[in-house]
Amino acid sequence: MQKTEDLKKKKSAIITGASRGIGFSIAMRLAQEGFRCAIIGRERSKIEQAAKEIFASTNSDVLPLVADVSEWLECENAAKSVLHEFGSIDVLVPNAGIGIIGSVEEANPLDWARMIQINYLGTAHIIKAVLPVMKRQGEGDIIAIVSAGATKGYPEWSGYCAAKWAVMGFMDSFAQEVISQGIRVTTLCPGGVDTSFWDDLNKEINRTGSEGRSKLMAPADVAELVALQINLPRNVMLKSALFFPTNEWH
Ligand SMILES: NC(=O)c1ccc[n+]([C@@H]2O[C@H](COP(=O)([O-])OP(=O)(O)OC[C@H]3O[C@@H](n4cnc5c(N)ncnc54)[C@H](OP(=O)(O)O)[C@@H]3O)[C@@H](O)[C@H]2O)c1
Repeated sequence: MQKTEDLKKKKSAIITGASRGIGFSIAMRLAQEGFRCAIIGRERSKIEQAAKEIFASTNSDVLPLVADVSEWLECENAAKSVLHEFGSIDVLVPNAGIGIIGSVEEANPLDWARMIQINYLGTAHIIKAVLPVMKRQGEGDIIAIVSAGATKGYPEWSGYCAAKWAVMGFMDSFAQEVISQGIRVTTLCPGGVDTSFWDDLNKEINRTGSEGRSKLMAPADVAELVALQINLPRNVMLKSALFFPTNEWH
């Protein structure tokens, strides 16, 4: 009989937006748990570098894939490549996302569209691409990285919150379509996490080196919640988790 550890080694995961930040930490954690990980990002050099780092640290197979999750066909092709390479897709973590903020009065509507395309449609696309594989397997975990901004509104974050609320509506409906087929669907809603998300944000909030930045959660804290869900008994699931650093309240 194979040991649980051996069985785990054969499992595979896809993590989108894994060239850095939360996605990278989740991929690292899943690789430590024995998963073969396919990691997705838009920039080849960055996603290949991330794959090298994860392999060097865990000795676990890592497949770097270039895809823009806002494009359905790129997600479909990515899922095909992973299935071809690994033979299964046991865990999917739709994580890729961007933040562009500002009051409704000053916002550029094109930025709202970009957040809908990446944060919401990017999640929906990769889920739809992976779904036939998980249905055939009769088992799978889909754990979306959403946001505390999916649980209430925040001034200046209208477009971001709207895209994240869209993810929650999608996930809550989709979960009920697949729960009886062995597919568990989870939404993780973190508060502030220390990543370059804040450096790339179009406003001076929690920039590297600021006092606010030092109080954020670590990306590894989010990975911990992913590990919690995948290690639960198969007949138990975490539907959603809102979690944040102890200097915040959401
Ligand atoms: N940091 C926080 O405080 C926080 C809190 C709550 C929720 N979140 C959410 O957590 C997720 C990860 O955020 P993070 O903080 O880790 O951000 P990050 O450090 O900026 O990383 C974002 C990742 O997504 C990738 N990406 C962006 N657009 C993509 C696209 N269209 N297709 C494929 N990959 C794409 C980026 O790589 P490329 O640019 O190379 O493609 C990068 O790897 C996001 O959904 C974010 O909204 C973050």
